[in-house]
Amino acid sequence: MEFANDNERQVFEKVLKELPSIVEKCQGYDELYGYKLLPGELYDEKVVEVLIYKFCKAYKFDHDQTVMTLSATLEWRRKFDPISAAFREKHDDALEAVGVLTRDSDAPANLKVITWNLYGGLLKNKEVFSDAQKFLRYRIGLMERGLRLLDFADPTNNSMTQVHDYDGVSIWRMDPQIKKCTKEVINVFQSYYPELLHAKYFINVPSLLTWVYDVVKTFVSEETRKKFVVLNDGKKLGQYVPSAPSAEYGGKSKSSLKELNVKEIKPSEYDIYMLEKTVNAEIE
Ligand code: HEM
Repeated sequence: MEFANDNERQVFEKVLKELPSIVEKCQGYDELYGYKLLPGELYDEKVVEVLIYKFCKAYKFDHDQTVMTLSATLEWRRKFDPISAAFREKHDDALEAVGVLTRDSDAPANLKVITWNLYGGLLKNKEVFSDAQKFLRYRIGLMERGLRLLDFADPTNNSMTQVHDYDGVSIWRMDPQIKKCTKEVINVFQSYYPELLHAKYFINVPSLLTWVYDVVKTFVSEETRKKFVVLNDGKKLGQYVPSAPSAEYGGKSKSSLKELNVKEIKPSEYDIYMLEKTVNAEIE
């Protein structure tokens, strides 16, 4: 963790110290991305420090903004239950088919875990966008499972890369339901998942649809936008992501994306504890 000056370090240490009172205000919810925030069984101090540092960094070490966002994040997690979305709920098959997670521990820093959204493949299943909440629960579930593949204690693998493959969208309009789902997901990512994205590639984007990029990027902060790369030709992805499948994306991997998909992602020990707590509460 790097601090540009003493003030940044002091803000970080202050927020860490305030964690018990932040958690208390969120009705005791002390889980973040599968980790326990307060000391006790299953607590990992090093990881908690990294997670708090990410919040501080995202809000430029402004104490009040950092605390406000962290509190809002815990409150949102308490209500939304992203652990359930990731490990308990069954999502629409058409959605599950377009989300892929890959992991390559030999890949360059922060290109080791990649979330692939093959949104072009939804061309035939436009109905999946009709319920924005359902779509959001699917997408957050995928995001959370991807986060479980990261190692927050390792600076070369503590943020992820994402790819949107728009192969096949050329005849689509940006209809209102897609726009609504897109906005909703972007809002949640921006508010509750700070400093977790390394880079985001939009590939197979037909030149005629570059205007969509101009519309969607207005929903996104300048800091996030700097991480975006738009490529018309999907095969160029390999120049940026060397571990990508060679046949589909011009990378070095001989395996197809389907073969690289990590299907079994284990919940963390604290996820399991939280899931058991939810189930017990439902039984009572
Ligand atoms: C974000 C779907 C077309 C650029 C998103 C998101 C969804 C989505 C669901 C939310 C973020 C996420 O899931 O990671 C779609 C669908 C499209 C489409 C179904 C088909 C019509 C396009 C096109 C572009 C584009 C043609 C042009 C490059 C973006 C950008 C974001 C985004 C810049 C913001 C990403 C972020 O904040 O993480 N899209 N999109 N989209 N999309 Fe698309």
